[in-house]
This record gives sequence, structure tokens and C-alpha cells, in this order.
Amino acid sequence: MDEVENAPAAVKASAHWWQKSVFYQVYPRSFADSNGDGIGDLEGIREKLGYLELLGVDAIWLCPVMRSPMADGGYDVSDPRDIDPMFGGVEALDGLVTEAHARRMRVIMDVVPNHTSDQHVWFQEALTAAPGSPARGRYIFREGRGADGAEPPNNWPSIFGGPAWTRITEPDGTPGQWYLHIFATEQPDLNWDNPEVFDDLAATLRFWLDRGVDGFRIDVAHGMAKPAELPDMSLANNRLLANNDDDLRFNNAGVHEIHRRIRKVLEEYPDAVAVGEVWVDDNERFGEYVRPDELHLAFNFRLAEVEFAAEAVREAVENSMSAVATVGGTPTWTLSNHDVAREVTRYGGGTVGVDRARAMALVELSLPGVTFIYNGSELGLPNVDDLPDSALQDPVWERSGRTERGRDGCRVPLPWEGRQPPFAFTTGQPWLPIPPAWKSLTVEAQIEDYNSTFSLFRKALELRAIRPEFSGNDIDWYGSPKGCLVFRRTGGLICALNTTNAAIPLPPGEVLLATQPIEGRQLAANAAAWLV
Ligand code: GLC
Ligand code: CA
Repeated sequence: MDEVENAPAAVKASAHWWQKSVFYQVYPRSFADSNGDGIGDLEGIREKLGYLELLGVDAIWLCPVMRSPMADGGYDVSDPRDIDPMFGGVEALDGLVTEAHARRMRVIMDVVPNHTSDQHVWFQEALTAAPGSPARGRYIFREGRGADGAEPPNNWPSIFGGPAWTRITEPDGTPGQWYLHIFATEQPDLNWDNPEVFDDLAATLRFWLDRGVDGFRIDVAHGMAKPAELPDMSLANNRLLANNDDDLRFNNAGVHEIHRRIRKVLEEYPDAVAVGEVWVDDNERFGEYVRPDELHLAFNFRLAEVEFAAEAVREAVENSMSAVATVGGTPTWTLSNHDVAREVTRYGGGTVGVDRARAMALVELSLPGVTFIYNGSELGLPNVDDLPDSALQDPVWERSGRTERGRDGCRVPLPWEGRQPPFAFTTGQPWLPIPPAWKSLTVEAQIEDYNSTFSLFRKALELRAIRPEFSGNDIDWYGSPKGCLVFRRTGGLICALNTTNAAIPLPPGEVLLATQPIEGRQLAANAAAWLV
């Protein structure tokens, strides 16, 4: 009989599938195109499930595939209970989920509760309804300040640049109220004080869970609640695409009640998981999001933010673990996603960047908890920082007055096979151009090369899945030379990282896997190794 079945309740409660899974983040527009329109889709993903199975991931996180006019790559949802035709409609999602389950992979979907698309029926209704009407009450409409209300209601900037308020024209043609949009103009913020807003999210969650989806990634999970009276905020440290802990637009206390209510819905489906996007720095505040009655998991972005330096990595690891320890939460690890520059480039690019990204992959995959791999990391893809201006689609580019290029550089479609773009991603024109230099990074070029980055990930995931040393919830730090770190998991796995430019002696033990050849028991510069 299964050990977990016999275990006491407390142990049982802590043995959920999502507590040690490796999630693979698919950015659907960029993964695989099945119909030649140049945009990746759900059927394309389904056709590549064998690839993900070979890689060895436990679960797939799909970035938004709901109906959307794509003002922000699908994070502007016009119907949360439908799949966009561009991605293949609801049948395509059903097909993907069924086949993923048959291959023993779970599927979670992005949901976007903070805002809708401006094309959502609710917002369209709000535009034609009167100020103060119930339709306006689902969003955050206010009168402007100054003479004739011509100034925005407060000084909040949009995360994407420009003001967070847009003034509408009332149905009678006069300049009217303003609505809040923390992101693009096409993404009006919902009013979470309105009970209809939660009820609609609950309907969306149940709709997808009933179709067999295994859970959700909750977009801007530290947003949603807004401070009463919407006071002006300090603009002192304001940066595009970022927020501070004291930023009035985010992390307001009321958000936790929303997460408690979301959790109650998810509890109706015992295996379902919610992972929140939580850009909160302070450990105590971060931990609040994963209290036992709130989110199951929250993204900790520290590893995606630190440079390749052992001391900084160690601090990020310690911080990420202590952020959840006090509330008994599960740590999460992520080196990159669709919003940040790819790690190969962050670590310096070129061969060194790839070496360092490989080393960090071993670090994140050796830690207790949940790891998220962003599609293309397993191929060692760099960011594409020289996309032509005319190709850029991230709203940040226009909203910043063309001063910030935005996030398209990490969203370039994946190279599958062949010697030239579009590398079988599509039979048509890819929605973003793929660099010809990626011919050496295709799946085809890497899959049978024992030393490729793909093979490294594959071996790492296999070891992580089968070796007993990858167990236990704690790590112990060992003494190590400057610029290096060594830790041991409770179960016995030792991970050594060398961030210096010179080789160092390996700690004792049998080498399970290393990112560079081991010569004379030396760990090369910019390398990591697993030992037992
Ligand atoms: C999240 C998403 C990002 C999106 C934003 C607005 O930060 O990860 O891609 O632009 O929310 O929905
Ligand atoms: Ca397509």
C-alpha cells in the first residue's frame, strides 16, 4: 500500500503533488504553431507534449489563452470563460488537457483577476452607462481633478508608462469620468469591492476546473485590492515594469481576503493549485500570501533578480526559504519568465552566459520546493535585444514613448528544427523574427547531443525525479571558498556552485551531474555540480 495512504493526517496534508513539482511555463504564442498563421497555439503545444515528457516536467503552466484582443499578449481578457480562436478554441484546450493527463503531466492556466480587456462586455456596458451606475461600479471610475475634471483623479502612473487613468467620452459626447488602469489603457482595473467581481472570478475558476484543469497562475496576485480614497503615491522610486513594497497600487491589506475566498473555491477541487504572481520584497509580507488559507504557492523572484555571484545567490536562496518558512509554505524558484530578460543574457551572454545559466539551472533544480522553467531556458536561449523596432508588440514600447523596448526579447518563438528561421516553429511568418544564429540552439541540434543544455536539463530532471537524495525540506550550507557556494539537502544531495573565473576543488562525494566536464576533481569556472 502507498505510504502516503497510511500516513497520519498531518503528513498526508503536506504531500501534495505541487509541493515538489517542476513546472514548465509555456508562452503559447511562441511555443509551436500548428496552422501556419505565425502564432503558436494549443494544438501546437499538444503536438509537442512528447517533447515535454522527454524533458521530464511534471506540469505545464499556460500563459493566458482566454479570448483576448491581445493588447498585452493575452493579459487583456475579453471573455475569461472562452479560449481565443487564435489558440484553437475550447476544444483545443480540452484536447491538450486530456493528452497531458494521459502523459501524467498537469496543466495550470493563467487567470487575470486584476483587470479585464476594454473589449470585455462589462467594460463596454460601463462606457455606455451613466456615472454612478452599477455597470460603472464594476470598474474604478472617478471624476477628474482640477477645472472641468480635466486632470486625472490621482497621480498614479501605469506600470507600462504614462498615466494610470484614461478619460472617457460620456454617451452624450461630453468629456467624462476617468477609469483606472495600472497596466495598459486596454486593461481597466476591476473594482474588487464589488461582490459581482469575485462571483465572476469564482465562476471562471470552476468553469476551467470542471473541464479538468489542475489549477491556476494568478496574475498580479498582489494587486486587486486598492486603498480607499485612492490617494496620491510617492513617485520617488517609480520605475516602469516594477513596483516597490510601499507602492500604493499593490499589496494592500484587502488582497488577503480575496485570496481566502479564492482558496475556498479551490478547496472544492482537492488537487487544484493556485500560484500567485507576488512582487513583494519583504519576507514577512510575502509570506502572508501563502498562509494555509490563501495561495498554495507564490512566485519568489529573487533568483530571477540576482546577479551571478555566489554570495548574492546564497542570500536569495536563504531569503526565499525564510519568506515561506514561518507560515509552513513551499518555496518556489524561477530564473526567468515572459516578463524578464532571459538568464543567459542577464549573466553576460555568449558562452559564459550559457555556462552560468546551466550552473544556475542545477542550483534551482536542487532546492526543496517547486521550480518553474520558462520555455526556451532548456535550450539556453538568449534574449533577443536587437528586434527591429517595427516588430515590437509589447505595449511598453509605445507607452514609454519608445524609450523602453519592453519584453518581446524574451518572447521570441522557439527554434525546433532546420537550419534557418523560422526553424519549424511555423510554416508561415513567425509573429516575432527568430535570429538565424539560433540554428545551433534548435531542439533538433540539441536533443541527441549529450552535452547540450537540453540534455543537461533532461538528466537533471530525471535525477531529481528518481534519486532519494532530493528529499527533505531543508538545506545546510557548507563552508566554501569566496565566490562559491555549497549546500546539502536533508536527503543527501550536495550542490556546489562556482561563480568565480577559476576552477575550485570539488567537495567530497560522487558526482551525479555537472554542467562542465570534471577534470582532476576540479569544478570549472561558472559551473555547478551535484554530488551524493
Ligand atoms: C503580469 C504578467 C505580465 C502582464 C501583467 C498585466 O505581470 O506577467 O505579462 O503584462 O501582469 O496583466
Ligand atoms: Ca497558430
